Amino acid sequence: FNILILNGPNLNMLGIREPEKYGALTLGNIIEQLKTKYSTQDITLADFQSNAEHELIEKIHKGYKKIDFIIINPGAFTHTSVAIRDALLSVNIPFIEVHLSNVHAREPFRHHSYLSDVAKAVICGMGHKGYDYAVDFAIDSLRKMS
Ligand code: DQA
Repeated sequence: FNILILNGPNLNMLGIREPEKYGALTLGNIIEQLKTKYSTQDITLADFQSNAEHELIEKIHKGYKKIDFIIINPGAFTHTSVAIRDALLSVNIPFIEVHLSNVHAREPFRHHSYLSDVAKAVICGMGHKGYDYAVDFAIDSLRKMS
């Protein structure tokens, strides 16, 4: 199975960026840990980060019929992007929305997501462990479906 981990704007700044909210690990650390822990003969983890909405959209499109599950932290695009929602719906790939911080305990503009109602699941407030739980769930459901 092929799982794609997508990260949106400013997540390349993890480790430096507001560590009290987002933790001390870099995105590279998080991805490396996930790959070490979850890559097996039947599971391939691919990853991509971009600050540009169109690049994330193109990556989603390229996943059509190639990627079985997407784990996405859309960063601030969560709260603004109808286009990323439509891209995910257009390829019909199941996905989990992940946020490091608890967006519901923050500013009101972070309470609404354009993705949550079409996601398989939403995880927020668990820091980098949220990605772990999401990958674990994705693997379980892919194996059950096959
Ligand atoms: C975030 C939460 C978003 O509101 C914010 O814009 C981010 C990161 C999180 O992981 O907690 O960039 O998605």
